[in-house]
Formats: sequence, C-alpha cells, structure tokens
Amino acid sequence: MSNLPIRPDLAAKKPYGAPQLNVEVKLNTNENPFSHDEAFVSQVSAKLQEVLRNANRYPDPEALELRARLAAYLTATTATTFDANQLWAANGSNEILQQLFQLFGGPGRSAVGFEPSYSMHPIIAQVSHTEWVAIERTENFDIELPADLTALKNANLVMVCSPNNPTGTLSSLELISKLHEITTGLVVVDEAYAEFSQAKSAVTLLESHPRLAVVRTMSKAFGFAGVRLGYLVGSNDLINCIRLVRLPYHLSSLTQATAVQALEQASELNKQVEFLIAERVRIAAELQKMGFTVADSSANFLLFKGSFDQGELWSFLVDHGVLVRDVGISGWLRVTCGTAIENDKFLAKLKIFVEQK
Ligand SMILES: Cc1ncc(COP(=O)(O)O)c(C=O)c1O
Repeated sequence: MSNLPIRPDLAAKKPYGAPQLNVEVKLNTNENPFSHDEAFVSQVSAKLQEVLRNANRYPDPEALELRARLAAYLTATTATTFDANQLWAANGSNEILQQLFQLFGGPGRSAVGFEPSYSMHPIIAQVSHTEWVAIERTENFDIELPADLTALKNANLVMVCSPNNPTGTLSSLELISKLHEITTGLVVVDEAYAEFSQAKSAVTLLESHPRLAVVRTMSKAFGFAGVRLGYLVGSNDLINCIRLVRLPYHLSSLTQATAVQALEQASELNKQVEFLIAERVRIAAELQKMGFTVADSSANFLLFKGSFDQGELWSFLVDHGVLVRDVGISGWLRVTCGTAIENDKFLAKLKIFVEQK
C-alpha cells in the first residue's frame, strides 16, 4: 500500500469504508434518512454562534453538561436511573470502542466477537495489537456458547453487538449476563441500534454487572451521523479509567453544544424511529412475498437472501439507482430502511430483477 516504513502488520490492509456511489437511493450505511427541520437547525445555529465566540478556549474536557443530558435521556427511556458519572462521550461510538480497546486490549491480550458482526470490532482490535478470536453465530445468526469456553474465559474484551450489524439479531439480557459470568474481562454491548428495538437495553444490567459497558450512538435514531457523537454507559470506575486513554479535549465545544440541543428535544427527534420500524416490517413482508429469506431484525436495516448471486443483484440495483450493502456473506445483502419513496424504489427495482430471472 505504501513505501513508508509503517507497521508491517498494517502494510497489506485496506482502509475501512462502505463503497460510496453517486446514486439516487442510498440504503447502504444504516443512516437515518430524514434531514432536520428548519426550526431545529435555526435553534442549534443560534447556540453555535454563542459557542463560536468562545472558541478561543478549549472545550470542557469532561463534557459535563452533555453527559448529564445523556444520563437524563437514558433515565427517561430505560426506566433505570443514571447520572453523569456513569456516562462518557466521544466522537462517534467508534471512538468509544477504540478507547475501550486501548484500555483493555493490547499486546498479549485478546477480544472475542460473534461473527458475522460489525466489522470495525476486529479492525480496532488489530490496530490496538489485540488478538481477535471470532466465534461463528448459528445459521439464524444467534449466539450459541461454544462447548469450549477457554477463549471466552481468557478474553480481556467480549464484544456483543445487539441488535447486531449486519444481521439485525437481538441478544438476550440472559446471554449477556451469562457472558459476564464466564469471562473475567470487560463485556461490551454495542447498542448502536438500540432505539429500533422494543427489547430492554443492557444498560438495565449495569448495577449488578460491574464489568459491563454499553456503547451507544446518536448517529442513527437521532439522525446525527454527521455530528459524530457516541457514548458509553458503565460504572464510574470504568469512566475514570477511560481518562487514561482519551486525548486532551477530544470532544469539540461545537459537538458538545449540538448534542446538548438535540438531547433537549430527544422525543421530537426520535419520532422517526417508529416510522422506520414500521417500514422495516413492511419491507420484510414485501421481500418475503418476492421469495427472499429475511433475517429477523430489531434494527433500521434488513439482511435478505435470494437464490441469486448477491454480487449480481447488488450490481443490478446500482445500475438502477439503488445502493445497498454487500457485507460479504454469501447470498445475503443488507438494505437500510429509508424514506417510503426510497423503500418503494428499492422494492420496485428488486421486483424487476426477480421477474427477469
Ligand atoms: C454496530 C455499530 N457500532 C458502531 C457504529 C459506529 O457508529 P458511530 O461511530 O457513527 O457512532 C456503527 C456504525 O454504523 C455500527 O453499525
């Protein structure tokens, strides 16, 4: 990749990134399809003007107001009480995940994940010199504990993505609790898509599970992928340890202020979530009618499989203005739930493909 004397273990790697193509209907990165309304944009802009006047100063390194707002949001939505000391925020949940690997991973240490799952988990493991141990999910993409628990027992991090990207599969709180019992490491539940699921969040386990960390994001339900705000819910002890690896002033004053404004109107911003869940149900039914197998999803996307080569179908859809994601699982493609018009276009093009076959 380069003639520069970079680390040999990275030299042959390709950077992570979904292929971005200039097509009309983009359903490939699990974004919220709705842009923000003018009233919200004006309100945030006014706040940001104030923040910019003081941008000669570093931001609050502790992001205290933001963390208090996040705690209030979680308290309101999970019927469990949290305070700012149990919350941590960073530039997207990817940065949170990186901080956890910096803290718990490293040379001679290992992380276990259940695949297929979010492909950044093993990438962050490698970049932090953490050995990655993959346990295959079942045919239905569920997690089943292996007969030999050695890898889990010895792991420094156990990664559970729930709802899981790219399959949408939910893991039970019983399973998460069991993993916490088996391992002596940190159990990380990546809940980037939690708001799209009706199930109880793993944050409700925190009080009785001291080595549990729940990672969340404002990128999806809040439609804030461009703002870059991820957060962690964990023990105060864990939050104190994270300060060992965070960079000074890692979260800009603009990001903090924007997120605070959004959290003040959480219920307003999250109102699209119900629509997206309804669209997920509708798209799944339509896919099934066309003969596709659809994985059970509790997220804002669906993984589906036909009796065709997924590469051929992916290219057909791109040629017809619809971008979905080939996540590298033979036969399967992943589609994000978009607006009703986008979803209709996707279904219409798919129908043409199926009828041609
Ligand atoms: C499971 C999962 N975790 C984390 C992320 C990262 O999200 P962000 O860094 O935007 O918060 C994503 C993004 O798609 C994801 O799918």
